[in-house]
Amino acid sequence: MLTPNPAALEFLLTRRSRPAKTLTLPAPDRAALMPILTAAARTPDHGKLEPWRLIVLERAALDRLAALAVSQGAALGLDPEQIEKGQKQFADSPLCIAVIEVQRDAPKIPKIEQTYSAGAVCLALLNAALAAGWGANWLSGWVGHERAFVTAALGLAENERVAGYMHIGTETSVPPDRPRPDLGTIVQWVDA
Ligand SMILES: Cc1cc2nc3c(=O)[nH]c(=O)nc-3n(C[C@H](O)[C@H](O)[C@H](O)COP(=O)(O)O)c2cc1C
Repeated sequence: MLTPNPAALEFLLTRRSRPAKTLTLPAPDRAALMPILTAAARTPDHGKLEPWRLIVLERAALDRLAALAVSQGAALGLDPEQIEKGQKQFADSPLCIAVIEVQRDAPKIPKIEQTYSAGAVCLALLNAALAAGWGANWLSGWVGHERAFVTAALGLAENERVAGYMHIGTETSVPPDRPRPDLGTIVQWVDA
C-alpha cells in the first residue's frame, strides 16, 4: 500500500536555493539548527561509515575565515577578485556549515561512494534548511578546495575535504527559478 506524503513531494518539486548574496540575519540559532543537522546526518551511507562531519561556523569563526581568505589568497598568488570572493563568502554569511567528507579506510566500500554520501549530506542539509523556512545556498570555490586554506581554516586532516559550504540565513528576496533540466534529454527509458 502506498503511503504518500504530498507536502514533502510538493516541497521537492519546487525547492530552490536562495543565492548566498541575498541572505541576511537572523540566522538559525543552535536550537533551530538541531533538526537541520539531524536531517543532514540521516543520509544514505554504504557500510555505515559516517564518512562526513559537520563544522558549524558562527560569527567569530566566519570573521576569522574571512581574514584568513585574504592572507592565504595573497600567499597563494590569487588575483584580487578571487581573494575578495573568498573573503566575502564568509564575511557576508549569516551562518555557514562546512560539510566535511572524511574518507574512511574500508576495503569493501569504494572511496567514490563515500564522496557521493558526503554530497548527499550537503543536499539533505540544504533541503532541511529550506524546508524549515530559511534561505540556504551550497557554495565551494578556492576556499573549499585549496589544501593550505582548509588546513589553516578548519584544521582538516589529510583524509578530509570540504564537500560544501552551506550558507543559511533569512532570505531578502525570492529569486526567479533557474531553468530546470529537460527530462526528455536526461532520462532514458529502457523497456527491453
Ligand atoms: C558542489 C557544488 C558547489 C557549488 N559551488 C557554487 C559556488 O561556489 N558558487 C555558486 O554561485 N554556486 C555554486 N553552486 C551552485 C548552487 O549551490 C546551486 O546549485 C544553484 O544555486 C541552484 O540550486 P537549486 O537547484 O537549489 O536552486 C554549487 C553547487 C554544487 C552542487
